[in-house]
Amino acid sequence: MSTIEKAVTKLNRDSTGQTDNNGQQNTQQVQGVAENIDEQTAQHTSVPEATVARDASIHTVQLDLASLEKRNFVSLSKERRLINEEYRVIKRKLINNAFGVLSKTLHHPNLILVSSSRPGEGKTFSSINLALSIALEQDKTVLLVDADVLRPNISKTLNISHSLGLTDYLQSADVTVPDILLSTNVERLKIITAGSPHHLSTELLASERMTQLVNEFATRYSDRIVIFDAPPLLGVNETAVMAAMCGQAVVVVEENRTRLAEIEQSVSLLPKEMAVGFLINKAHRNQGKGYGYGYYYGAS
Ligand SMILES: Nc1ncnc2c1ncn2[C@@H]1O[C@H](COP(=O)(O)OP(=O)(O)OP(=O)(O)O)[C@@H](O)[C@H]1O
Ligand SMILES: [Mg+2]
Repeated sequence: MSTIEKAVTKLNRDSTGQTDNNGQQNTQQVQGVAENIDEQTAQHTSVPEATVARDASIHTVQLDLASLEKRNFVSLSKERRLINEEYRVIKRKLINNAFGVLSKTLHHPNLILVSSSRPGEGKTFSSINLALSIALEQDKTVLLVDADVLRPNISKTLNISHSLGLTDYLQSADVTVPDILLSTNVERLKIITAGSPHHLSTELLASERMTQLVNEFATRYSDRIVIFDAPPLLGVNETAVMAAMCGQAVVVVEENRTRLAEIEQSVSLLPKEMAVGFLINKAHRNQGKGYGYGYYYGAS
């Protein structure tokens, strides 16, 4: 049985990612390291002062958190909500990888690529929920970037009308990071939308300017999490190029739809040294079952 096959079988068994012994051990380890995050962060913040202010966003957008909650996204609700709890488990693993012991072995551990084998498996839903979970619970500052320039959906889902985004920055030296960086009414959440459609959209993701931008996120914002909602891995070569710029990948797998061979093929496109986790997205075809997540493959 291959590593992925084992991972998926295991994830199918424990849909919340914490129901068997291993899962529990993982969760405990994550919580143990999470307590040390501030200490770890102190080491990461010794980046030289940048010429542009760190939070130089000049635009603010209002997210309708009540509407997001109604649509079953992660929320600040005081009620116990399954989705909040499920994403809490997932995000702790990501934060742990980004700032805990493993971070020393990863290149740009704070940069997380969210992708999938095929379109429509739940990348945008998962990216937004991860970002909300981290920002609303005030673990860390999060920058959510819509890098799925072929099927951009973050603006639509969050009802953001700001026009300038990633592709505008990538194709014009006149567009600056403050032009595209949006602050939100969630204090620790910043967003960059996908920008205007462009005939070279995906090529732009593999451009030198993109590499520079991503490097800047990794170093200047080393104490925050950057989540890229990326195109699928199969059929979009640039996704793998982007993956090589990130320390972690979350591969969203739609249960009962994604074929094992496709998952294996997708993972084979990711750099061997990155931390790779699978997020089994089940809920919209299998109401109430939730999400599974695990790191069964990945970082050396
Ligand atoms: N777990 C879930 N619960 C409820 N709705 C979901 C869930 N996952 C995905 N959806 C819904 O399914 C649809 C597809 O999901 P989403 O847009 O996140 O997929 P995607 O992988 O980003 O697709 P694309 O490749 O088109 O960008 C959306 O309407 C989304 O809101
Ligand atoms: Mg999407």
